[in-house]
Amino acid sequence: MKALITAGGHATRLRPITWTINKHLIPLANKPMIFNAIEKIAETGVKDIGININPGETEMQKVVGTGSRWGVSITYIEQVGGPKGLAHILKIAQSFLGDEDFIFYLGDNIILGSITQFVNKFKQEKPNGLLALSKVRDPQRFGVPEIRDGKIIRVDEKPQNPKSDFAVTGIYIYDHNIFHAVDAIKPSARGEYEISDAHTWLIENGYNIGHQEITGWWKDTGKPEDLLEGNQLLLAEMTREQAINEGECDPEVIINGRVKIGRGTVVRGRTLIRGPVTIGENCIIESSYIGPYTAIGSNAIIRNTEIEHSIIFDQVTVSCSKRIVDGLIGRGATIISAADSLPAGHRMVIGDNSTVEL
Ligand code: DAU
Repeated sequence: MKALITAGGHATRLRPITWTINKHLIPLANKPMIFNAIEKIAETGVKDIGININPGETEMQKVVGTGSRWGVSITYIEQVGGPKGLAHILKIAQSFLGDEDFIFYLGDNIILGSITQFVNKFKQEKPNGLLALSKVRDPQRFGVPEIRDGKIIRVDEKPQNPKSDFAVTGIYIYDHNIFHAVDAIKPSARGEYEISDAHTWLIENGYNIGHQEITGWWKDTGKPEDLLEGNQLLLAEMTREQAINEGECDPEVIINGRVKIGRGTVVRGRTLIRGPVTIGENCIIESSYIGPYTAIGSNAIIRNTEIEHSIIFDQVTVSCSKRIVDGLIGRGATIISAADSLPAGHRMVIGDNSTVEL
């Protein structure tokens, strides 16, 4: 079995962050999001993984590398023609996948727990496709199966009137017959080759599409609040053994719960860190409160600030005597106090599509 992970597309709903970083490299609990997908696939024993990227992408290859750190081999596949939909990705990757069964994993999906059970079900029951379903409150955002007598009879992409309260999640397993569907379907009204149309085509043409419900936590990270929730859930999974403090902390610093601190980071002054929290390397944290579910990248400076439930990227400076919650603060951003500058007021240089709540 092989695997294919998606890491292309434009991720417009995550701008401005995604103007400068591929969505799949956004750090969650201080690890690029796509690492989660690679780890889950590597755990199943699959060794040969393709990653779909936008033409001209270079950062992904630098960050992810050859796959050797997970004991797998990674092939990068450019989606020639641009992001034309999930079924288009399969078409482009057909020569890499050959006739083998494969896991198709959307690189912006985060799940807790293993997918091995799902792979085993496919191997035992040998359907032509196996879809992982999850109960959701807002099925309109997803591919939605219509289920009759325990069988999926069609899948609608982002329907206004969903036929069930399930989403088809971004973890699929197929045999080579998926390519018949990919060749047959036409672009949808939004101009994409929809994976849901490929599923409906297979069902209508007599192929066997099975399903299994994911009962653990699953998230499609389409919006900023999804990233914060993903960060929260991954930090909540951090064990005591992983919460290693390799930094230097002054005696008056108080650390509660599971807190991971990287090498070269200095924590000083009247500071309280309440885990789960992860802080990268070479940061300065001074006279601040760092609250639960906060991930701070490397080379950041946090002074006289309270931060909770936030993702702070590398090289960020925050020194503002304010409390920041649910923040997503991109690489190299600066948030400082205006108290000493004239005229008084909030002074900002903010990129396109940014959001500030004062
Ligand atoms: O997350 C589950 C949902 O994913 C399913 O329920 C839907 O049926 C499925 O269409 C998909 O919907 P999204 O609207 O969430 O797809 P999105 O455009 O966000 O793309 C999913 C992943 O594929 C993401 O990693 C970006 C990547 N991508 C997307 C397109 C359209 C590419 O690499 N190339 C593309 O052409």
